[in-house]
Amino acid sequence: MVKPRILITRRIPEEALALLRPGFEIDHYDKPTPIPRKLLLAKIKDKQGVLCILTEKIDQELLEAAPALRAVSTYSVGFDHIDVKACTERGVLVTNTPGVLTETSADFAWALLMAAARRVVEGDRFMRAGKYKAWDPMMMLGTDVHGKTLGIVGFGRIGQALARRASGFSMRILYHDTQRMFPEVEKQIGAQYAELDTLLSQSDFISVHAVLDASTRHLIGEKALSLMKSSAYLINAARGPIVDERALVKALKKGRIRGAALDVFEHEPKMAPGLSKLSNVVLAPHLSSASFETRIKMGGMAAQGLVDALSGRHPAHLVNPEVLERASAGV
Ligand code: GLV
Repeated sequence: MVKPRILITRRIPEEALALLRPGFEIDHYDKPTPIPRKLLLAKIKDKQGVLCILTEKIDQELLEAAPALRAVSTYSVGFDHIDVKACTERGVLVTNTPGVLTETSADFAWALLMAAARRVVEGDRFMRAGKYKAWDPMMMLGTDVHGKTLGIVGFGRIGQALARRASGFSMRILYHDTQRMFPEVEKQIGAQYAELDTLLSQSDFISVHAVLDASTRHLIGEKALSLMKSSAYLINAARGPIVDERALVKALKKGRIRGAALDVFEHEPKMAPGLSKLSNVVLAPHLSSASFETRIKMGGMAAQGLVDALSGRHPAHLVNPEVLERASAGV
C-alpha cells in the first residue's frame, strides 16, 4: 500500500518521529531554522499532510500550492499562523496541541513576572559586569509580588493556571475575557471578573493570555498603557501583536509603567527599536512551553493528530470539526 506523504517542517523530538515513521513517507526539513518559504511551497506540492510549527504561514497561497493536502497539524496550541477558514473551505483538517503545555506555560509566565518584579536579570547582568562592590540598602529595589493585584487578560487554560500560582502568593486576582465564568467557578479559582479598563487601572501586574485575532490585535496599546498604574508591570507570553510594542517602548522609556517581561514580539523574532536597550524589561525568545517534558508531549500530540487525521479517525484536538461534520452529512 502506498503510504501518505507528509512534510515535517522543523526538527522535532524522536518520540514524535517514531509515531510517524510506520505510516508515512516522510519529507523532513530537519533543521533548527525555519524552512525557506519557496522551499516550503515546493515541498508541499505532493503532500497529504504537514506537521508544522508557528513560523510557517499556512495561508491561501500555500493551500493553492498543495492540492493533495488533507491535514495540517501544528506543533503549538496557538494557530494564528494558520488560515483556518481557508483550510475548512478546502476540507483540510487542522489539529493543535492544547492542554499539555498549560502548566509549563503558566510556570514561565510566572517566572517572567517574578524576574521583572525582583530584577533577577538585571541583577545577573550587574554581577557579571563586576559591578557588585558592597550590599546597599537602596540598591536595585524591586516590587513585592505577594499580596498585590494580578490582572489576567484572557482567562483560558493558561490564564487560569497562572491564577492558581498567584493564589499561592496571596494575590488578589482580576480577570478579563470575552466570556465571564460561572460565579461558582470564579469562587473556586479565587478570581474576580473585571472590565478591561478596571483591570488595567487596578492591577499591579498584568499578564496577557488571550488568543491573537482581530479583536485582540493591539489590545494593549497606548490607551491601555496609559490606564495602568505607573508602578505596574506588563507580562506577555501569549502572542506579540496583542501588545503595541512601539507604544510599550514609549511607556517604558517615559516611566509610564515600571516594567515589562516579554516572551513574544510583535514582529518576532525582531524587537521594536529601543526595546533591547531598556533595563526595565525582561526578554525571552518565546520559551513559554520550552521544557523537555512538554516539548516531547507536544510532539507526540502533534504527530498523533496527523496520524488520526490521515487515517480517518477523529483527531482528539481538531480545530475545525466542521470539516468532518460536513463530510458525515455528505455536504
Ligand atoms: C506557543 O506559542 C504555542 O502556541 O504553542
